[in-house]
Amino acid sequence: MIVEQVQTQLDVTAGRNRLPPGPRGLPLVGMAFYLRRNPLEGMRQLARDYGDIVRFQVMGQERILLNHPDWINQVLVLQHNKFHKSELTRRITARMLGQGLLISEGEFWRRQRRLAQPAFHRARINDYAATMLEITCSHIRSWRYAEVRNIGQEMTALTLGIAVRTLFGATLPEEARGVGQAMTFLMRYSLRRQRLPFRIPETWPTPANRRANRELEFIDSLVYRIISERQAEGNSNHHNDLLALLMGAMDADGTQMTRQQLHDETMTLFVAGHETTAQMLTWTWYALSQNPAVEARLQEELDGRLGVHPIEPSDLPKLPYLQAVMNEVLRLYPPAYIMAREVISPCEIAGYTLRPKSTVLFSQWVMQRDPRYYDDPEAFRPERWLDGLADRLPPGAYFPFGGGPRRCIGEGFALQEAAIVIATLARRFRFRLAPSDPVVPEPLVTLRPRHGIQMTLHRRS
Ligand code: HEM
Repeated sequence: MIVEQVQTQLDVTAGRNRLPPGPRGLPLVGMAFYLRRNPLEGMRQLARDYGDIVRFQVMGQERILLNHPDWINQVLVLQHNKFHKSELTRRITARMLGQGLLISEGEFWRRQRRLAQPAFHRARINDYAATMLEITCSHIRSWRYAEVRNIGQEMTALTLGIAVRTLFGATLPEEARGVGQAMTFLMRYSLRRQRLPFRIPETWPTPANRRANRELEFIDSLVYRIISERQAEGNSNHHNDLLALLMGAMDADGTQMTRQQLHDETMTLFVAGHETTAQMLTWTWYALSQNPAVEARLQEELDGRLGVHPIEPSDLPKLPYLQAVMNEVLRLYPPAYIMAREVISPCEIAGYTLRPKSTVLFSQWVMQRDPRYYDDPEAFRPERWLDGLADRLPPGAYFPFGGGPRRCIGEGFALQEAAIVIATLARRFRFRLAPSDPVVPEPLVTLRPRHGIQMTLHRRS
């Protein structure tokens, strides 16, 4: 069998088969078609059929799927230095994000993270609250009761607006409006390429390749121009945005980021920072529309604690139910639904020795719906978070923001942004599904609803 002939990267010791269990798949393609048909449920089925560690092949390459919190914690935290971001992640993002935080490694990554970290301290994030609120209010100014809107598109436009303003401040050129569309195209394009069994080289002048080049050049030149304008002004301190903080950041040895690094980090924050939060918000409105009792309890908490006042960062600790709703949305609809790592030095996981170049996968979608850790796991029940569940869960059972040293740098930013948007909109509207296509999660770079979600905007009674 061809599949069996593929050289395994796992240890096979004399007389004792050390391979984790897993399906054989089809000759040549392995499990590629099976997982392509329905990646989310396909992974869950593999976990159900084979257990906490599963080995399979995709197009001749070995994949190890981990379905136990302990093994995930080993990779993210306890043995993190034996792993790198996967080749797959790099291929999907490298062209757009260069050597940005999301994919850089080693000493380079450590320095960049050190330089960027102060921009995400709590006090800094609080400073963005007013901008987040202002953009949310101005975004919904044109909304009318009883009209139908594609809530996915609305949330993407809203979080893009917030990302643009918090990254670049108010002084953004007119053409920045096209950035969102360009980003969406590039994400779809990269992912589609990775999923094709046979890839056409990026240099071939196909319509998709040509458009991808145009969109990349457009975003690149815009970002470089903004950086140049700032440098020409001497990055004066009247700018209070993320770019100013990154430009001003200085390492202990007095060095600062180069133009290229500033570009890569800016692009990374742009991409990582708006798409994920947009999906979290989109799924929030869907989940609330399907669970009116949860929606009513949330609105009651917001009314009781905030009255008619706009939400402020200091209100957040007083809104435990809002926090629970956000936790539950991130559990059932994790925008980052899978993570991947490549083994760089031999390590022991679940009693197996993993050799360099193996790709390890673990999925928030699978783990966060695992009945071993969540009662009635398919149900949207924010209440489950109110009695200390977060403290009882083993590390690795709930990881919407990843974990260990590479945990999401923007977690606090995202949660504050989501809380402000939810609190502001939930006090004005009830969103209800309009007759349209069924809502089906689609695992692209992030977890999106396949056809968007058409919703009718009702006035809150
Ligand atoms: C709901 C929203 C978000 C979710 C679910 C999310 C999820 C994640 C996850 C799972 C990772 C870890 C990836 C890995 O280890 O392979 C990550 C990393 C990262 N995220 Fe987020 N993220 C969100 C919002 C944000 C925001 C708002 C920003 C920036 C403003 C951001 C910037 C980043 C960056 C730069 C990294 C790489 C960090 C590093 O490796 O040092 N994210 N995110």
